[in-house]
Amino acid sequence: MFKKGSLLSDSGAMSDQGRDILRAAALLREGNLVAIPTETVYGLAADIRQEKAIHNIFRVKGRSFQNPLIVHVGSPSSLEDGTWISSFPSPLRKLSDIFWPGPLTLLLPKTAQVPRVVCAGLPRVAVRVPSHPRTQALLSELSSPLVAPSANLSGHLSPTLAEHIHPSLREKISYVLEGGKAEKGLESTVVGMLGDKVCIYRLGSLTSEELEEVLGYSVELADSVHLASPGGMAHHYAPLGKSLVLGSIPSLLSRYPIERSVVISFQELYTDIPADRCFVLSPRGDLEEASQKWFEVLHRIEQMSADWILVDLFPEVALGRTLNDRIRRALRRETRFPQRLSQDLC
Ligand code: TXA
Ligand code: MG
Repeated sequence: MFKKGSLLSDSGAMSDQGRDILRAAALLREGNLVAIPTETVYGLAADIRQEKAIHNIFRVKGRSFQNPLIVHVGSPSSLEDGTWISSFPSPLRKLSDIFWPGPLTLLLPKTAQVPRVVCAGLPRVAVRVPSHPRTQALLSELSSPLVAPSANLSGHLSPTLAEHIHPSLREKISYVLEGGKAEKGLESTVVGMLGDKVCIYRLGSLTSEELEEVLGYSVELADSVHLASPGGMAHHYAPLGKSLVLGSIPSLLSRYPIERSVVISFQELYTDIPADRCFVLSPRGDLEEASQKWFEVLHRIEQMSADWILVDLFPEVALGRTLNDRIRRALRRETRFPQRLSQDLC
């Protein structure tokens, strides 16, 4: 019999959920995995000094060892002693001064102390300072940084609520530190130097407009040649067992079976489909609100009986660009579209 909120791990140990920072810290120090809240999405954390635990992250997520992990530190000062990074390029330092703590991940030259597995053999380590108060408190309790990818099975939806963490993942970890709903709802923006310019390696919660305002020049997205950031690859962020279809929603509604479809709409409520199958992210057209709800709505749809998720692109600005990026990646995951529907892919 399972205790409420508790699950058996594969080693037979109890795993559960709560707000106990000291317990989370003790478990991490002992080499266990703990899910942690951040302002972007929930992460699956291990102590950077526990290499076996870091290997376990890959194992329990089903993640490729070629996909490196983000190192989370409590404050920028944790980087000053040169333990984890060998230098801090000044444009990136400038960004960190403004956006940390927050949804900015920086690719910085690593030292030999960073376990190879964290960076997948790449020369840079991804670092960020999360702003969620509970994870901030956890990091100040610990003497080491936390290595943490998003707390989802590889390629699936990121969790923005503790309840989104998949049962098959939960049963392999020791504790879920609860922290409510993720404030941003989309992952951090991964940024690094490309030559003498700052470049985006993964679109995220921090917009290119915000970066450009600080840097004073247009910030490009790294092309596939330079995209040594596997979260920038296809086959990500997709709902299980459903196919995302992209197009104009009225047109899709006229061609797809209404009873097997759901709509995700930015602002408009479509009345050709029952109201409980039309998810309007932000009637007032606010991209921040839409971003916060994106994964939450997909998690709800994942539980519904439907085959098709009909979506249209968001305005290609600010967070709309990140949302469109997540849509395109979720689309590419599906390769089993009936021929007559494939025209809706882009
Ligand atoms: O908001 C977030 O970033 C969340 C929270 C938990 O911090 N984490 C997250 O981690 O989304 P993950 O592992 O799901 O995505 C990390 C992204 C991937 O695209 C990965 O390839 C890239 O960061 N990345 C990590 N380390 C890198 C490195 N050394 N060089 C290049 N890209 C790196
Ligand atoms: Mg992820």
